Amino acid sequence: MKRLLHLAQFMVHGPTWHSLAMWRHPQTAERGFAWTEPAFWQHIARTCERGLFDMVFFADLNYISDTYTGSMDPALRHAAQAPEHDPIPLLSYMAAATKKIGVAATYSVSHQQPFHAARLWATLDHLTHGRAGWNVVTSLNHNQAANHGEAMRPTDERYDRADEFFEVCRKLWASWQPGAVRADRASGTFVDPAKVRRIEHEGRFFRSRGPLNVVPSPWGGPAILQAGTSPKGRAFAGRHADAIFAIQPNLAGARAYRDDIRKAAAEAGRAPDDCKVLFGLQPILGSSRAEAEERRDAHNALVPLEGGLAILSAHLDFDLSILPLDTVMAHRTEPQLQRMQTRYRTAEGRLLTLREVARNHGQSVGLPQFVGTAADIADQMEAYIDFVGGDGFMLSPTHVPGAIEEFVDHVVPELQRRGRLRTAYAGTTLRAHLSQAE
Ligand SMILES: Cc1cc2nc3c(=O)[nH]c(=O)nc-3n(C[C@H](O)[C@H](O)[C@H](O)COP(=O)(O)O)c2cc1C
Repeated sequence: MKRLLHLAQFMVHGPTWHSLAMWRHPQTAERGFAWTEPAFWQHIARTCERGLFDMVFFADLNYISDTYTGSMDPALRHAAQAPEHDPIPLLSYMAAATKKIGVAATYSVSHQQPFHAARLWATLDHLTHGRAGWNVVTSLNHNQAANHGEAMRPTDERYDRADEFFEVCRKLWASWQPGAVRADRASGTFVDPAKVRRIEHEGRFFRSRGPLNVVPSPWGGPAILQAGTSPKGRAFAGRHADAIFAIQPNLAGARAYRDDIRKAAAEAGRAPDDCKVLFGLQPILGSSRAEAEERRDAHNALVPLEGGLAILSAHLDFDLSILPLDTVMAHRTEPQLQRMQTRYRTAEGRLLTLREVARNHGQSVGLPQFVGTAADIADQMEAYIDFVGGDGFMLSPTHVPGAIEEFVDHVVPELQRRGRLRTAYAGTTLRAHLSQAE
């Protein structure tokens, strides 16, 4: 039997998402790109629900980067994930305009307190009736740390802190036993005090007394998502995540990565399938292959190299202006440059120069571009997932509005015809969508 694909829509609450060409893409300009308006996001949520996606998903950064050249000018000039508004308030707006689709956002744990996160996500779980998804990341850029008055911690320590952060959230969510809310008018008892407990957490990084002041929901809390590549990041996903977002242009690398996540889940005592892997993909659709290729070329030509260098430097937290543009990136030995090794070679294995990696990063942060007619794109998606073994894709458009609607109108029916995409939601929560197998 063919496995169903899981689809998620990648977004950033700003004028550029993964593509730095997005804000000035000719098709965006024609239709207007009202990224500060809630109605714009509600339209996206409705469109993706029409396409029966598991979820809409926001990345999030808390900074404007000066990593490249030590100045914010390149990031600001090219809108290199700057500005970027807070995505969390949009989740309620998007949930209000839809009924089934999951609404997920990144909320970094590196500079926050677990009590705030536990309360926020428990509240969103109520408001969305189990459709909220929390992307638990540890974040990596000195500007983000500085905005919160801190120095950046090394990766391992960030994940140790994330582990304890999440443990405190779990304790807070469990601080109310089922049935604690009595709302008994006759006796005058709203909450049974015996069923609410302090947590008295005292750990290496956090102290929290508890209990939470949010009542338990019937939905079991937010779905947990993750995006990390290091061994500790993968282990974290194996323990806690319902899905992980991965960037793996190379098929063999993608298969090895998914196998590793499945192993991490099994090692944590879960079923290997409990953590779905969603691979980033930038679809570029045309009514003919030639038109799609023209669209790709026009899009890619709009991406400024300096913007690509700025965003790549920000994501690595390494100033790439010190390297010549024809540096072969896979040959560099700096520890900061190692986490993007998968982006330093083509899908066929050719090693890329800094100029090429930066261009790819400005186009799609290195996500593979699947180009062609709806049937071509469906072919490429099927081939990728069949080689890798599962589970689905995080779709990143070149322009909005336009690209998401086209995907839903043309590629979704093609995938449904092939028995690769659901024709109805089986459940109503994000966790149910992620675990729907057929
Ligand atoms: C596909 C992907 C998406 C990410 N998205 C975000 C994000 O939206 N916000 C953020 O602060 N960090 C994001 N990160 C960074 C991770 O949270 C993590 O801090 C970083 O990758 C370092 O951890 P690692 O070595 O485990 O990858 C992302 C990482 C990956 C691989």
